[in-house]
Amino acid sequence: MSTAITYHQATKYHPETIGQHAGLDWSSQPLPYKDYDCPEPVSLAPFLPFDPNPFTGAPASNEALVDDTGGIGLASLSRLIFFAYGITGVVPAQPRPLYLRAAPSAGGLYPAELYVLIRSWNGIASGLYGYDPRHHHLVPLWGGLELLDALDAACYNNAAVHAAPACLVLSGLFQRSSWRYGDRAYRRILLDTGHVIGNVALAAHALALRLHLTAAFCDERLNALLRLDSQVEGALAVLAINAGGSCERPAWSCLPSSVNATQSDGQLIERLHGDSVLPLERPALIARGEDQADDLEIRYGKRGGVALGIPSTRSPLSDQALTAILHRRSTREFRRASIALEQLARILAYGYYPERLGLGDQASLDHSLIMTFVAILAVDGIATGVYYFAPHSQELRLIKAECARDSVQFLCLGQELGGNAAAVIFHTTDLARAVKRQGERAYRYLHLDAGIIGERLDLAALAEGLGASGIGGFFDDHVTDLLGIPKEQAVVYITTIGVPAAAAAS
Ligand SMILES: Cc1cc2nc3c(=O)[nH]c(=O)nc-3n(C[C@H](O)[C@H](O)[C@H](O)COP(=O)(O)O)c2cc1C
Repeated sequence: MSTAITYHQATKYHPETIGQHAGLDWSSQPLPYKDYDCPEPVSLAPFLPFDPNPFTGAPASNEALVDDTGGIGLASLSRLIFFAYGITGVVPAQPRPLYLRAAPSAGGLYPAELYVLIRSWNGIASGLYGYDPRHHHLVPLWGGLELLDALDAACYNNAAVHAAPACLVLSGLFQRSSWRYGDRAYRRILLDTGHVIGNVALAAHALALRLHLTAAFCDERLNALLRLDSQVEGALAVLAINAGGSCERPAWSCLPSSVNATQSDGQLIERLHGDSVLPLERPALIARGEDQADDLEIRYGKRGGVALGIPSTRSPLSDQALTAILHRRSTREFRRASIALEQLARILAYGYYPERLGLGDQASLDHSLIMTFVAILAVDGIATGVYYFAPHSQELRLIKAECARDSVQFLCLGQELGGNAAAVIFHTTDLARAVKRQGERAYRYLHLDAGIIGERLDLAALAEGLGASGIGGFFDDHVTDLLGIPKEQAVVYITTIGVPAAAAAS
């Protein structure tokens, strides 16, 4: 059995065994950010368009008035990074405040770390920088253009990376999340990172910057140039940022790794991360396989579906993305109230069809490997039940005519968010097929994609005046039972959407 499948099976939650682990050792909780000590950082704070400035407390500075939209200056870099992963909320706590970031994170542990590689960007020397979110600084780590040559080599001379004046690199620090979630942490690290990528994509579009995402790189080379200890931290995604205009883009967005076979004994995260690396030489390309999507449509096409009427024009959300990111928080409590089918249709469109909504160069998704199901609990205009979301014909196809709130709550580990939501979106995949196509690396791609979609769904729900929260903890086999799909199919992520309890008072 492949390492990815072994890992996924071994990290399923089951009602019989959940909660059997030892309690958390709060004294050893990892810091959710790198504590850089740097005398001469590159300060990005003055460029934020807020009055007063949240980092300095001072009135908005002249730099904050700079309109660098589409340009490669510090203002656009500052805003891009802030809206991707900056601190957007502070909760007083002991021994240190809890910093809430622009992207959500399972358990608020923020295992994703952000680095910037500058090739030629106005106002900043070329080299590698770490991002310090507490001060909104860039911390110079290593200088020199040879780092950029190393980046090109690590990304197999990806044309968009080579042409980019700056690249963001996202990594995952395993222990930050495994401290709490054990072996299942790897799933959440990837999902979290996908949420950050979702923000980068939307913020880049809002700032008129071009973005090219790749998670297909040689791990050994990229980790070496970032000076990462690969037992502790691993690079997960490279985001090439270009100014407006045309830029050569490679036709591929994912490359396959090998398929391995691993026993499920200990060290699961290290094994899967290690077995899903890409080699020094670029692997052969794989077809995108949209053809295979059709058999999924056929598989779930037995009954007529409810057409969603997904808009094909520019989304109004594309003008509000930065505001939505700034104000987003995961909903902590829903009240049992219904939402409209049109709202759900717009949310799904924003999640799954950004390219059709005028949202620019979004990360491309391979719909052929994703299977999305929606539990409708209270949506006006469509009956309660479990539906398959057909991505090509854009309709919801009834699979089960009933769906009890209790059972949805139960499979979300008893979390009321599941039981009180209006709609619950299940992101699933045929993992065996994915591994056959993309090797063990498929596990990364699928979870990153799910996180990207999850971020868009969350923001779209907020823009509808609704609430949303990701759910990373669920009883996997109970989800597949509810959806009527084989247990071998992997449930990757859940997004709950509903009416926030706080809205009751307003
Ligand atoms: C991958 C992922 C999984 C999550 N799982 C849950 C969950 O199971 N239950 C829950 O209440 N919140 C969940 N959340 C939401 C986080 O608790 C929330 O993002 C975090 O507390 C930070 O707060 P914020 O999103 O409001 O900024 C999840 C978020 C992510 C990104």
